[in-house]
Amino acid sequence: MCGIVGYVGRELAAPFLLQSLKRLEYRGYDSAGIALIEDGRLLRFRRAGKVKDLEASLDVAAFAARVGIGHTRWATHGAPTDDNAHPHLDCSGRIAVIHNGIIENHAVLRHQLEAEGHVFSSQTDTEVLAHLIESLSEGDLLDAVRRAVAQAQGAFAVAVLSQDDPSRIVVAKRGSPLVVGRGEGAGYVSSDVPALLGKATEVQFLLDDEVGEVRCDGYAVFTLDGRPVHRPPHRVSADPIAIQKGGYKHFMLKEIHEQPRSVGETIREKLDEATHALSLPALEKGFADIDHVYFVACGTAFHAAKVAEYLWEDVLPVPTHAVIASEFRLRNPHITPRTLVIAVSQSGETIDTLMAVRRARARGARVVALVNAEQSAIERESDAVVYTRAGIEIGVAATKTFTAQIAALGLVGLALGRRRNPDSEAVCARELAELALLPGRIVEALRVEARIQSLAEQLHRASDVLFLARGVLFPIALEGALKLKEISYIHAEGYPAGEMKHGPIALIDEGKPVVMLASRDIAYEKLLSNMEEVKARKGLVIAVSDAPDDPNLRRLADEVLPVPAATGISAPILFTIPLQLLAYHVAVSLGTDVDQPRNLAKTVTVE
Ligand code: AGP
Repeated sequence: MCGIVGYVGRELAAPFLLQSLKRLEYRGYDSAGIALIEDGRLLRFRRAGKVKDLEASLDVAAFAARVGIGHTRWATHGAPTDDNAHPHLDCSGRIAVIHNGIIENHAVLRHQLEAEGHVFSSQTDTEVLAHLIESLSEGDLLDAVRRAVAQAQGAFAVAVLSQDDPSRIVVAKRGSPLVVGRGEGAGYVSSDVPALLGKATEVQFLLDDEVGEVRCDGYAVFTLDGRPVHRPPHRVSADPIAIQKGGYKHFMLKEIHEQPRSVGETIREKLDEATHALSLPALEKGFADIDHVYFVACGTAFHAAKVAEYLWEDVLPVPTHAVIASEFRLRNPHITPRTLVIAVSQSGETIDTLMAVRRARARGARVVALVNAEQSAIERESDAVVYTRAGIEIGVAATKTFTAQIAALGLVGLALGRRRNPDSEAVCARELAELALLPGRIVEALRVEARIQSLAEQLHRASDVLFLARGVLFPIALEGALKLKEISYIHAEGYPAGEMKHGPIALIDEGKPVVMLASRDIAYEKLLSNMEEVKARKGLVIAVSDAPDDPNLRRLADEVLPVPAATGISAPILFTIPLQLLAYHVAVSLGTDVDQPRNLAKTVTVE
């Protein structure tokens, strides 16, 4: 998780930048760098290693610069070397760029820029931005950055410094967090608030597709098409909790919107997007001879495991079963030393899952923990561990950890499949290409929020809601129902759509809300038939679909919530986004305690 900082003001920039980067070290990184405007010249210093290594290489006291940017890099495209460390420069050496996230179309842009004569010195996607800004510059840095961001695809946060415009830092945000701030005679930039505490007196959190400029008297924020943005700032001293919410009303909403980053970082840690190499140290030793897989988990984690059950069948020639952990302990599972048990748990402390791990190990299974928290009980009692990189999740209702679990489980399945089933290479290659685009698609999926807010006003009076889906989206229907239940207290149930005729159809009467997940690639025509059956009984059909413009769908659905079209691992993740937002906004309409719903705990450590 890269760290971004910037300073414009009356004080010396270099000490602030280095100190602030140290405050962001918790995010994890492998190189660091700063850029300054010193005596009218842009200077850049960077190296692999820690901030202290960079600091030791500099005579910090010798710098008089009052403006600069700093970065800690967590390598994604290109090894953690000096050359790949940020900031990156354009050909002229007059524009410096630091960046967090991924420019998904970097290869196409690089090819286009090289054809225009730009010369690159690194393997990074970030350097593409520096040259793109240079190529689009017509004198105004903010305009050039706006035009460059409009061409870039993916989820990212960017800060730009120019020798020709030393009075300001220009920033842009889409999918990765970025905050600007104002202090006494100073303007600030950061990827996270801790770097600004004690300095900025107020902060503003940029929203997706916003750009900004930071000067010694503060900051200004604009939409991508240049309209000024006027949102009340957050007083840093007034409400530290509000600050940690990143400008969102609840942690849950912040965490829903963090998913381009959290899913992106979970993928990027395991997948080299350039070579499609999968690095999963946990699986290096053994597992090639497994002949049976059990997933054990609870609640939302179980729904992720259920998604994996469907996904793994496509790539692994062995039976896979997702079992609720508390039930696993009561059954007599067929376990041998060739059985792989995957314990899925964001906390790594859920007692039912821990007990299932103990039962599996006692019967000779090999156990892999797939967890978000490090050094947890479940990890300690497993043979190996795979981490999701969702970051700390404060909201009791799991959101970003769920989609990160699906991404991580999908990658583990591909890695095992490649080893066990050479024929699965074509599926793997297609999957990995899709995953590289997923963060940007999640940004696109989140854009349905305004529609959902108005729909929630209508739904919040419902007494119960049905969620229907088929295939790999069935566990997503289960998750959508759980999200609604646990934070709005409205009864909801997820069901395989094919089962509707075998009972649940009795529930349908006039105005009964039925959320239906309709993917072009998964029994789509049958889903449309299910919609006919609901309409015939005057039910209210809310369709979530990757075919939102299909006339048949629009004829049947009372509301259509679009998701970007995708296949494999990406599809269940994208279909989850509207359901999370729907649950959240219904709960807000009802005024429940969204972040700490009644009767619930974030981690269930009692049986
Ligand atoms: C998630 O929204 C729920 N609050 C709950 O079901 C949770 O998923 C379950 O308790 C498992 O937690 P874990 O992932 O930490 O093991």
